[in-house]
Order: sequence, then structure tokens, then C-alpha cells
Amino acid sequence: MSQLNAYPEAKELLNFIDRSPSPWHAAANMAEQLTAAGYQQLNESDPWSLQPGSGYFVIRDESSLIAFQLGAETPASSGFSLIGAHTDSPGLRVKPNPAIENKDLVRIGVEVYGGPILATFVDRDLGLAGRLVYRDQGQLATRLVRFPTPIMRIPSLAIHMDRQVNTKGLLLDKQTQLPPLLGAADELPGQQQFRQLLADQAEIEPDQILSWELNLFDSQPGSFYGPAGEFIANGQLDNLASCHAGLTALLASQEPGQQTRVCGFFDHEEVGSTSNKGAAGSFLADTLQRICAALESDTTAFRQAMARSFLISADMAHAWNPAFASSYDDAHAVKVNGGPVIKVNASQRYSTEAVSEAIFADLCAAAEVPVQRYVHRTDLPCGSTIGPITAAALGVRSIDVGNPMWSMHSARESAGAADHGMMIKVMEQFLSKKIPAF
Ligand code: CO
Repeated sequence: MSQLNAYPEAKELLNFIDRSPSPWHAAANMAEQLTAAGYQQLNESDPWSLQPGSGYFVIRDESSLIAFQLGAETPASSGFSLIGAHTDSPGLRVKPNPAIENKDLVRIGVEVYGGPILATFVDRDLGLAGRLVYRDQGQLATRLVRFPTPIMRIPSLAIHMDRQVNTKGLLLDKQTQLPPLLGAADELPGQQQFRQLLADQAEIEPDQILSWELNLFDSQPGSFYGPAGEFIANGQLDNLASCHAGLTALLASQEPGQQTRVCGFFDHEEVGSTSNKGAAGSFLADTLQRICAALESDTTAFRQAMARSFLISADMAHAWNPAFASSYDDAHAVKVNGGPVIKVNASQRYSTEAVSEAIFADLCAAAEVPVQRYVHRTDLPCGSTIGPITAAALGVRSIDVGNPMWSMHSARESAGAADHGMMIKVMEQFLSKKIPAF
């Protein structure tokens, strides 16, 4: 147990992920923590009256959440210290008419959400969680559901029927071979059998259920591994680790600052961010504009605030993997447990530029945390984040950073146990100070 005590922040992160098997659960868990810390929930459909120094949060459609703590000064005079991350992870989502019956076995039709490594979902004890929309005494209502035990599995084909699996890889046809096995058929037709299961879990009647968004997840809890427990493994490290780091830093900042602190956690990053609640949508701009409007009548207050603000877009980074050394730029091979990573891309797939890079490196120095720099191989296409999208929409100075990890988009990802605490320290440092003027 001693190694667990060495990394209390990582332990809390693993607990947070275990409690958050879907973006809806992640947002609900963050809302619960914010409420417990005295933050007040606001509705977008109401007028807002805001008190300097107080903390608030807003949720859009149950899976994107923005929390803020007003500063002593207005945003127009001191700006917003912004941290952004995403609540969703790649995986498998249940279709509306999912049951596929064959020889008394029922499988569940799924869509691929984002870019998971599909083979990593095979032979795992899959759980199911998400939200239901149902009719409750004539009204529409939503409810989060989570099955307490694994209920599905994608069994692999025995090597005796696929002799090339170790030379050609485990390839699955998404339509015909990916649907997980639910169980044996019963007397109900398959679609009804599935609805009955959901209804029992949600403690409602099957005909009350109108629709759902359901996510399959690896039910194995997070773990520490390595001789000193120096590594962690869990699903959804990308990007619940950054959500957890941002929220922890915000809640650690007890005393209000001069500037207003904001954490924005957005759904739909893994599918391009274009939705009413994704980072390419209006949620963050709407919220920041309303904060400015609630505090000042000057119509240019929002633009003044943006010119003074700074965004840390936090998403995980690719750690050097010794088994695949040629996949990395050797001079930018970032190490697990080597500290936060600044992500640089000249084509602006990452929003980092020279000034934001220098500011973040300075924050790391002030927090006494090492900093690393990552650049993708020049001959490989680079992924992206919410950083460039948000920077473009708001016209705000921005940087892309993240902690190093292995197995990004696997059902079971892995990272360093020490890095999480370091990222929280840097974020606390960022939220504690006025944004440097440039
Ligand atoms: Co990500």
C-alpha cells in the first residue's frame, strides 16, 4: 500500500475515472464536487446575477461543464485564466435498435465513437453506462445509468481459426464482428430484452424509455503498476486526467484572485468538437460574454477581457515508448514521470506559439516542476485538441499542454503516477497569479 500513498493525486484520479464511465457521469461527478465546495449552479435559461469572489458553474446538455470563480477585478481589467479539457473518450456507443439475434445468442450493435484502438476492447469485461431519456408522469426526464457488473464482451476468435493473428494483427469488421455479446436470448424479442434490462437498471418501466446514449467501458478499476507503483493504468486517462487536474487546481484555489478563473470541460472532442456543447460550439464564448455583461455595461468589455486572457488547453501527450522508438522524433521524446509536456506544431494543430510556450515554461519553473517539449514526427500527421478551435473562436492567447501517456485511445491506457500531481501544481500556479501582460 505504501506506493499508493506516494501518489495521492494519481489515486484520486483513478477513483474519479472509476466513478465516471461516461461523459455524463464525469460532468455529474464534477458538479457534485463543485457544489460541495460551495460553487453555485447557474442555468443558461435564467438571468445571472454574479458576486465578485464567488464560484459558479454551468452545464450544457449534461456532459459539458464550465466552472468559474470571479476575481476581485473585472475580466476587462484582469482577464480570464482559462483551463480547457474534454470529458469524452473514444469507445463504442449502443445503437437505437441494437439487438442482433443468432442461434439463441444476443449481440448488441454499436457505433464507433471517435478513434479507439478497437482490438483493445476485445476479451475485456465490458460495462455499460450513459443516460436515458424517459417519460415521467407526462414530462421528459433524463437519468444516468450504470450497470454494477460487466454485462458484455467481444470474444476473440481462437488462434486455431485465425493463424495469422500474430502476424497480421487482430482486425475486426466494425459492422459484423465488433458487436459485443450480451447473453442468451430469452422469451422476449431481443430489442425488448435489452430495453427490459435498461428499465430494470433505471428502475422504470420499459415503455417509459424514449431514447439513450450508452457507452461501453472497460469495467476493470484503475491500478498502479511497476515495482514502486510508479505507473497507472485505466480507461479514459485521455482526457479525464486533464479534467481532474483542472478541477482539482480550481478547487485548491480557495481565495479569489484578481483575475477570474475558468475551467471548461467539453464533450465531443473525440468526434471533432462541432456540436452545441463541443468546444467548437458557442458554450464557452456565451458563458464568458455573460460574465462580462453581468459585471460591466461597456460593450467592449468582452474584447478587452479576451486580450488579457490566457488559455491552457490540457490534453494528454504521447510518451516515448521504447518498443516503438522509430515512431518518435528522438529530440522530442517525452518521458513518463518526466513532468508536463508543451505540445508544439507549426501547422497549429496545437495552439502553442512562442509567447505562450515561454509563459507556461515559466509557470513550471515557478511551481518547481520539470517541463518537456513534444513535437510529432515531421513525416507523420499530427492529432489536434480543443486548443486551436477555442483560441480561434475567442481570439485568446493559448497553449497546448498535457501529461505524457502510453496507449492513447486504448480501452486501457497508461501514464505516470508522478505526472498528475505535477500538472496540478502548475495549474494551481497558473490560477494563483495575474496573467502576464504582452
Ligand atoms: Co484527448
